[in-house]
Amino acid sequence: MHEIIQQLEEKRARARLGGGEKRIAAQHSKGKLTARERILLVLDPGSFEEWDMFVEHRCHDFGMDRETIPSDGVVTGYGTINGRLVFIFSQDFTVFGGSLSEAHAEKICKIMDHAMKVGAPVIGLNDSGGARIQEGVASLAGYAEVFQRNVLASGVVPQISVIMGPCAGGAVYSPAMTDFIMMVKDSSYMFVTGPDVVKTVTHETVTAEELGGAATHSSKSGVSDMAFENDVEALLQVRRLVDFLPASNRVSPPVRPTQDSAERLEKSLDTLIPDNPNKPYDMKELILKVVDEGDFFEVQPDYAKNIIIGFGRMEGGSVGIIANQPMVLAGCLDIDSSRKAARFVRFCDAFNIPILTFVDVPGFMPGTAQEYGGIIKHGAKLLYAYAEATVPKITLITRKAYGGAYDVMSSKHLRGDVNFAWPTAEIAVMGPKGAVEIIFRKDIGDPAKIAERTEEYRQKFANPFIAGHRGFIDDVIEPQETRKRICRSLAMLKEKKLANPWKKHGNIPL
Ligand code: HXC
Repeated sequence: MHEIIQQLEEKRARARLGGGEKRIAAQHSKGKLTARERILLVLDPGSFEEWDMFVEHRCHDFGMDRETIPSDGVVTGYGTINGRLVFIFSQDFTVFGGSLSEAHAEKICKIMDHAMKVGAPVIGLNDSGGARIQEGVASLAGYAEVFQRNVLASGVVPQISVIMGPCAGGAVYSPAMTDFIMMVKDSSYMFVTGPDVVKTVTHETVTAEELGGAATHSSKSGVSDMAFENDVEALLQVRRLVDFLPASNRVSPPVRPTQDSAERLEKSLDTLIPDNPNKPYDMKELILKVVDEGDFFEVQPDYAKNIIIGFGRMEGGSVGIIANQPMVLAGCLDIDSSRKAARFVRFCDAFNIPILTFVDVPGFMPGTAQEYGGIIKHGAKLLYAYAEATVPKITLITRKAYGGAYDVMSSKHLRGDVNFAWPTAEIAVMGPKGAVEIIFRKDIGDPAKIAERTEEYRQKFANPFIAGHRGFIDDVIEPQETRKRICRSLAMLKEKKLANPWKKHGNIPL
């Protein structure tokens, strides 16, 4: 028996060594941790249960039968994050460059299947040269098996991808179908074809970093939700994100004890809105002052900054926050911000996370760039997402809510449950100046008359009371009592039940 156990230990030691000391040193020299070091950092100490350590590839071509490394380039299993179950796979770049073989794919699929069965998030730590070239179509089939599971798991269990090395070719499509993508600066990249192919086809000269690095995808393309300085920071932020999420769509989001009173008043909010309606202010200040202990996990902070999305907690329960940012493009809705917010609304709705919407929106962005880019379809995504959502929806209009954007931003008409406005709210078809220039066009040569008409319009429409008279706004509240009123509304909505008509699935404008 002693001998058998010793053999087992030797086999384990062999697997733990991955591609060997030299390749581990090379990984470290690039500022990257190994697959197993990453797992130890992201999971609670001592919680990792590894599966399939002894799995080996089945390829005989190109001398591969002489080269087998147990685990076959991916470490898989489950563990906990702050005591809550998660499944994980971590690709090992020291083994055939983390490339995906048939066996490697089977290991990933196995933990995904279990995650679906028991209802727990899947975390993928990606560091791979793509399809195992020696295996050909068997490897492509493996990718497709993973893709299929990504789709079936979507909306059932949260899926988080961390890109910690290369991720190229069709391989990018597995992370692309997960709920969140995080990247590590200077050591990770994602693209469908690398710089050499780009040079051949489009004659563009571009580095891997420029083409698909963390900065590119977190600020230009919006493919990545966040970019972090190094592996350690990224993994710690995964832990933070998981804390906000329910384990699956079958359960409520987690509730964390808080010292922050639901009745807390925040007097400084009474002066947040500047006297001049065209002067910006920082919507993040409102978010930070309203959520529990000022703890806000912002998603896509560097992309489409005219809208803010992220998670916070109210009385300990997770909420998703969507807020126009008047500091950027006056907070208008454009293609990028509509797509960004729509996907977030759908995530929250799929996972039973109540939605708070803070509105200060002058409308949709005009112009040929937006129209040619399809703002109609992209704006419709956000409209569709809000209209479809059945989770508790609380909306606060702080200042402008003009035109179609008023309707879109979780208005009463899209089944907003509780719709508040601050006294500074202006709810109208458009701003006073624009409105008067259209309906009193004949007076345009008479500045005094126009000024008089503008003031008249402002008095009449640029306030929350016209909407209030119709019950489109449930109450006009003092800014300082915002947290209290939202907490009470959320408590009232705790048992909300609302279902959409049965259908196979809707046809969101993609
Ligand atoms: C098998 C691979 C591999 C792969 C890398 N390796 N990629 N083995 N299949 N796809 C091996 C290398 O042979 C090497 O082995 C080790 O991993 C490390 O690779 P290096 O090239 O030395 O590392 P580095 O210089 O850091 O470059 C990393 C890299 C490069 C940029 C990822 O290896 C590369 O370009 N690989 C090929 C990428 C690719 O074209 N993949 C197929 C994409 S198509 P040794 O023994 O020397 O350590 C695809 C289709 C998916 O993935 C379709 C899904 C639908």
